[in-house]
Amino acid sequence: MSIERTYIMLKPDCIKRGLMGEVISRIERKGYKIEDAKMMHLNETILREHYAHIADRPFFPEIVEYMTSGPVLGMIVKGENAVKGMRILMGATKFEEALAGTIRGDYAFCTSENIIHGSDSPENAEIEINRFFK
Ligand code: PPS
Repeated sequence: MSIERTYIMLKPDCIKRGLMGEVISRIERKGYKIEDAKMMHLNETILREHYAHIADRPFFPEIVEYMTSGPVLGMIVKGENAVKGMRILMGATKFEEALAGTIRGDYAFCTSENIIHGSDSPENAEIEINRFFK
C-alpha cells in the first residue's frame, strides 16, 4: 500500500446536473482527501494534450464539444492507492458496463458524458496534476 495522488476531473455534465456535492461526498466518505480543487473552462489546446492518446478516434470531436460545453472541476485527490481506488469508485468507462454502486454506474447514462475522469496510473496522475495545477 502506498499514499498516492491522482487527478480527478468532474466533467461538465456532472456540474450541469448538480451532482458535484454527491460525487465529492462519495470521494470523502471513502477516506480520500481533496488536496486542491479548481473550476476551469477547458479549451481545445489543453484537451488535445490531455486526450492525445485518443485524438485520432472518431469520437474525439464529440469529446472536445462536450468538455468545452461548461466548466469542469479539477481536483488533486490523495490517499492509500488513490489511483486504482478512485478508478474502482468511478466505475467502468462505458456506462453500460459500470456497476451499480459506482459513480458512473449510478449516474452516467451514456459513455460520451460519463461524469468523471480519473488518472489511469501514478505516472499519468503526476503528469495530469502538473498539466492542470501548474
Ligand atoms: S478507449 O476507447 O479504450 O481509448 O477508452 P479509454 O482510454 O477508456 O477512454 C479514453 C477517454 O475517451 C472517452 N471515451 C469516449 N468518449 C465518447 N464516446 C465514446 N464512445 C468514448 N469511449 C471512450 C472516455 O470517457 C475517456 O475519457 P476519460 O476522461 O479519460 O474518462
